[in-house]
Amino acid sequence: MNPANYKRIVLNSRPETDIEPTTFRAETLPFSSLEIETGQVLVKVTWLSLDPAMRGWLRDRRSYLLPVQIGETMRASGVGIVLKSLSKDFEVGDSVTGIFGWTEFAAMREANVRKITVSNGVQSVDFLNTLGISGLTAYFGLRDICDLKPGDKLVVSGAAGSVGSLVCQLGKRAGATVYAIAGAPDKCEWLEKELGVDRVFNYKSPTFHQDFKEIGFIDAFFDNVGGDILDMILTRLNKGARIAMCGAISQYNSVEAKGLQNYMNLIAQRGKMQGFIVIDYAKEFPVAIEELSRGLADGSIKRKFHIVEGLEQAPIALPMLFSGGNTGKLVVKVSEEPQAKQE
Ligand SMILES: NC(=O)c1ccc[n+]([C@@H]2O[C@H](COP(=O)([O-])OP(=O)(O)OC[C@H]3O[C@@H](n4cnc5c(N)ncnc54)[C@H](OP(=O)(O)O)[C@@H]3O)[C@@H](O)[C@H]2O)c1
Repeated sequence: MNPANYKRIVLNSRPETDIEPTTFRAETLPFSSLEIETGQVLVKVTWLSLDPAMRGWLRDRRSYLLPVQIGETMRASGVGIVLKSLSKDFEVGDSVTGIFGWTEFAAMREANVRKITVSNGVQSVDFLNTLGISGLTAYFGLRDICDLKPGDKLVVSGAAGSVGSLVCQLGKRAGATVYAIAGAPDKCEWLEKELGVDRVFNYKSPTFHQDFKEIGFIDAFFDNVGGDILDMILTRLNKGARIAMCGAISQYNSVEAKGLQNYMNLIAQRGKMQGFIVIDYAKEFPVAIEELSRGLADGSIKRKFHIVEGLEQAPIALPMLFSGGNTGKLVVKVSEEPQAKQE
């Protein structure tokens, strides 16, 4: 039975720095307002992804996507189940993924929804992590920019997070010696004992810079953090080193990003520092998803979720990404999943 009303969370005001309690507001709307037309589906949202990029989408400035507007449903990737379909391509009960936003139900055009296959060893929520934007970011950034050769020394910042933890594992798989940087003892332990990285550094340790020098110079850096960590790594490059600029989470809440002091080492070491946006690889997603699904199914790829329950928790949980409160992929469980169609 359908509910009388549903909830969504909209952008209420743009934060200057940190996300505040007034940044978002909840709205309750009649379920009957969720009309769909031919070529559309109505999706019941089960899981939503919380991503550092959301902070950027709140800024009214030019970027790779338009900013979320005041009063608009907060943009977010999700997975869900088709509840009603006026599309030839989808049936009621299909598991799907798309940019549903912070809402319990979403009326979506068929072109903006993708069917997902929940097979053995893979859960639907994996499509927000290893098989979603985070995993694909790790896969393509590492492949195209870090361009690893066996024996390379790879450093990963934000290593216990959703993107970073997969980069560490794919780096090991490519034959690199992997050094991880994270900000808490339990995260460091997980990386070393369960993910098998060669050495972990806690960047909050007073001896971090000194300890890091013990590994010598490095060949590749997958950077999720930017700021001081990036600046320090710029002094540790081997000739021909590659830096994948995936993200700069240390700077996302700042009015202006901090400048780098040590970038001239890129000249002396013939280094490369390159940004990338994962959506540019969309055509190649299916092949990568197939490969990563095999890793999940055979247990060679490990993942961790940090789950918060209930749509109303999304605005409270989002700042965790900036304080290090999450280990692994931060997701919101919006509703119970019906028995998925197993394939
Ligand atoms: N280029 C692309 O297409 C693309 C796509 C997706 C994601 N990204 C980027 O990838 C990065 C990782 O995203 P994710 O989803 O995997 O997030 P995440 O790593 O799961 O979560 C964020 C983590 O960043 C660390 N952190 C936060 N503030 C920090 C600071 N000031 N200094 C150092 N570390 C800090 C925290 O871990 P600690 O406890 O270790 O500090 C926190 O748990 C982000 O920068 C994101 O924007 C880029």
